[in-house]
Amino acid sequence: MTTLSGKTALVTGASRGIGRASALALAKAGAQVLVHYGRGAKEAEAVVAEIRKAGGRAHAIAADLSQPDGPHKLAHGVRAIVGDRLDILVANAGASKAAAIEDYTVEDFDRLFAVNVRAPFFLVQQLLPILHEGSSIILLSSLAAHAVVGTLSAYAATKGAVDALVKHFAFALGIRGIRVNAVAPGVVQTDMSNFTKTDAGRDYTLGMQALKRLAMPDDIGSVVGFLASDSARWITGDTVHVDGGSKL
Ligand SMILES: NC(=O)c1ccc[n+]([C@@H]2O[C@H](COP(=O)([O-])OP(=O)(O)OC[C@H]3O[C@@H](n4cnc5c(N)ncnc54)[C@H](OP(=O)(O)O)[C@@H]3O)[C@@H](O)[C@H]2O)c1
Repeated sequence: MTTLSGKTALVTGASRGIGRASALALAKAGAQVLVHYGRGAKEAEAVVAEIRKAGGRAHAIAADLSQPDGPHKLAHGVRAIVGDRLDILVANAGASKAAAIEDYTVEDFDRLFAVNVRAPFFLVQQLLPILHEGSSIILLSSLAAHAVVGTLSAYAATKGAVDALVKHFAFALGIRGIRVNAVAPGVVQTDMSNFTKTDAGRDYTLGMQALKRLAMPDDIGSVVGFLASDSARWITGDTVHVDGGSKL
C-alpha cells in the first residue's frame, strides 16, 4: 500500500507506543516520516532503522515538548529536513498521571497541559507556513475526555481541550484545505497504560469494552494512517473513537 507516496509526515512521541505505531503505519503507506522523541533517542533511532530496512525514508528529531519553546525548536528542525512542505502532522506526544484530586500538584497540572495542549497548539502554529491544501493534522484525544476512566481528572481535561482545539483548528484551516481531526483511543497497551499488565487492570479494561481483547498500538496507528490519507478527504473537525466500543 503506497497511498502516501511522496508525502512528508511528522509524528511526535514516535519513539514508543501509539506514536511509534503511527510512524510505522505512515511509512508503510509510503510517507517519509520524521520520528520525534523526547528522551528516547535509542528507541527513536530503532524506529528509523526499522522504516529504512523496509525501504522507507525516516529521520529522528528531538525536542522537549514540556518546554515553552519546544514546539518552536521542533518546527525549526522539521523545516530544515523537509523544506517548505509538510503533508501530515500527528501531534501524539503525551504525558499522563493517575491521581486523586487531592494528590495532583500545580506542577503536575502544568506539565500535563504543557505537553498535551500547549505543545500541539504551538506546533500547529509554527508549522502553518509549510502546511498546505491537502495536509492532514491528527491530534491525540482520549476516551477519558468523555467518560470517567480511573482517576485521571487533570489528564482528561487536557484531552477535552484537544477536542475543542480540533473543532476550532478545523474551522480556521478549512479555507486552506487543511483537515484537522483527533483519534480518541480507549485503553491501549503502552507504557502509559501499563496497569493492563495486572489481572485487575486487564479485567477492568475488558469489562468496559464491547470487544474483548486488549488494544495494541497498531490498532490506533492504522486509523491515523487512514485519517492522513485521501480516503478521509471529507472528514474534518472530528474526534474518531478508536476504543473497541468502550463505555457504550
Ligand atoms: N495508552 C493509552 O491507553 C492511551 C489512551 C488514550 C490516549 N492516549 C494518548 O496517546 C498518545 C500516546 O500515548 P502512548 O500510550 O503511546 O504513550 P507512551 O507510550 O507513554 O509514549 C509517550 C510518547 O510521548 C513522548 N513524550 C512524552 N513527554 C514528552 C516531552 N516532554 N517531550 C517530548 N516528547 C514527550 C515520549 O517520548 P520519549 O519517550 O522519547 O521521551 C513518547 O514517545 C498520548 O497523547 C496519550 O495521551 C493513550
